[in-house]
Amino acid sequence: MSELETENEELKILLVDDEVNITKALRRLLIDVDCYDIYIANSGQEALDLIAAEPDIGVIISDQRMPEMTGVEFLQQARVLVPDAIRILLTGYADIEASISAINEGAVFRYLTKPWDDEILLKAIAEAAHNYWLIAENKRLNRLVLKQKEELQQWNDRLKQRVLDQTAQIRAKGDELALINQQLRGSFEETIEALAGLIEMRDRRAPGHCRNVAELVTVMAEKLGLSAAEKGQLHSAGLLHDIGKIAMSDKLLGKSMTDLDTKELHEYQNHVVRGQAAINMVPALHEIGVLIRHHHERFDGEGFPDKLKGKAIPLGARIVCAADMFERKLSQFPESAACSSALAELEGEWGQSLDPELRLVLEEGAKKVYSYLNISTTVREMKVSPRGLEVGMQLQHDLFSGTGVLLLKQGATFDENAIGAVQRCFMIDPFEQDICVLLKTDEAE
Ligand SMILES: [Fe+2]
Ligand SMILES: [Fe+2]
Repeated sequence: MSELETENEELKILLVDDEVNITKALRRLLIDVDCYDIYIANSGQEALDLIAAEPDIGVIISDQRMPEMTGVEFLQQARVLVPDAIRILLTGYADIEASISAINEGAVFRYLTKPWDDEILLKAIAEAAHNYWLIAENKRLNRLVLKQKEELQQWNDRLKQRVLDQTAQIRAKGDELALINQQLRGSFEETIEALAGLIEMRDRRAPGHCRNVAELVTVMAEKLGLSAAEKGQLHSAGLLHDIGKIAMSDKLLGKSMTDLDTKELHEYQNHVVRGQAAINMVPALHEIGVLIRHHHERFDGEGFPDKLKGKAIPLGARIVCAADMFERKLSQFPESAACSSALAELEGEWGQSLDPELRLVLEEGAKKVYSYLNISTTVREMKVSPRGLEVGMQLQHDLFSGTGVLLLKQGATFDENAIGAVQRCFMIDPFEQDICVLLKTDEAE
């Protein structure tokens, strides 16, 4: 038999017989076994009362033949009270039949005949004791498993809660960082927009030039399927491409390209290198600086400053170059035919100064950005004060503050933000002219 943890504990044995001699004889037999704790009852009822007081009785040995309550009747009731106790019936030969049926009904573990053989009786009790401890051990282990299962479940629940809490914390931190990032990105873009405004103030001949180029290169990047990051870079490069012109002399800025002498031409060409150098201190603008440096390279290799040729010129710089050239041509024509005339002017440039693969995207982009130039004359034109602005109105001419800062460029459609910005600016730097607007309709070509 295997060693059980509970087996060394004291086992309570209940002896039940109406004959005192029998119980005494049994006690004598069992008294020498150290781990047996003997209880005696002389009737079924007395035994039931005793069981009620000692519910951890492990083995019950009962005589069958007793007045008032037979051994089988008593054991059936005892089974209800202490179902785990091992029950043994002591019986004479005449009661064997009744005893066997009692065994079959599950009331007793086994029966022994009177007079008994001491050795057989001791062995039977030892087996009964082992069975009792086996059941007890099984229950103990089951309780242990259940307890561990509960503990494991609690651990799991706690762990799950911790993971959920930490996930929520990480998510909140992520949202916070995303917001900070968005704010930083917003102020970065606003700073670049402000720089573009300064560039345009310096070169009064080309109002809105930087913002127009930025808008056009963004649309071209979209049509080329460039990534959001590349699109953002191109937009910034469009805004800043002529930042090197800030340091140009007024005399040079006032001259047209064809009137420049060699020295002046050299200084003019320097604006691309100076532009790159001006923003080089900002690591986030390094790649934009490269596009600025190369926005006057020609596809045939005859441009400046490095005479790069063909695809050796960064794609972004080729895009800025095409948009820049188109935008400068645009201002040379009356509005009604500006877009188509400027595109026609570029005819000879594809494959020479401009990348021929960008021809289609420039044409499509220009038509999209400058669609307002083809708006039907039936559209109502009106002049309004800043207070009279409404969402959906489209600006017909560039709008400058009183001191000449370009606030919005021609073609912009007013939304609530733009109206708010114009009204705020009017308070601090009022302009005298009314704002020329027209209502955007679907009648545009
Ligand atoms: Fe330039
Ligand atoms: Fe330019």
